[in-house]
Amino acid sequence: MSKHQVTRRQFLSYTLTGVGGFMAAGMLMPMVRFAVDPVLKGEAAGSYHPTTQKVADLTDEPVRVDFTYKQKDAWYESDVTATAWVYKDKGTGKIVALSPICKHLGCTVNWNTNPDHPNQFFCPCHFGRYEKDGKNIPGTPPPQPLDLYPFKEKGGYLYLGKPQPRTEV
Ligand code: FES
Repeated sequence: MSKHQVTRRQFLSYTLTGVGGFMAAGMLMPMVRFAVDPVLKGEAAGSYHPTTQKVADLTDEPVRVDFTYKQKDAWYESDVTATAWVYKDKGTGKIVALSPICKHLGCTVNWNTNPDHPNQFFCPCHFGRYEKDGKNIPGTPPPQPLDLYPFKEKGGYLYLGKPQPRTEV
């Protein structure tokens, strides 16, 4: 008899361990997938949300555009309401869509509401101010320009993406 011969007891032990492990993996995989899958999915990159703003109606004067979309955060789905300040630049004809979130401490900025500083975005929390193109005015609290929404036009309506910090200033 060879030294390395497998005994009946060892054979049964190996077989049961192998089959047991295979069955356990078969049961655990769907559970792990169920638990992890929503986290991995996230929001589709580059997704745009529809608004009721007609692109043809945009002028040189910033208008407030409110829009709602569904956000899936892992297992939790909710309605998110967001706002943008949008105008069409007179010189370039390009659309500019600005986030209203102040870059100082996150209050909401408004257009042209401070009579002492007309035609600027004004943050009432600490008197932060921004130029019409969203650039922060030196000497006021905000340290950076307002974020920009990527956008596109579809069926004549404005679609907005996720606001991005500015890189050009
Ligand atoms: S939060 Fe806007 S100036 Fe402070």
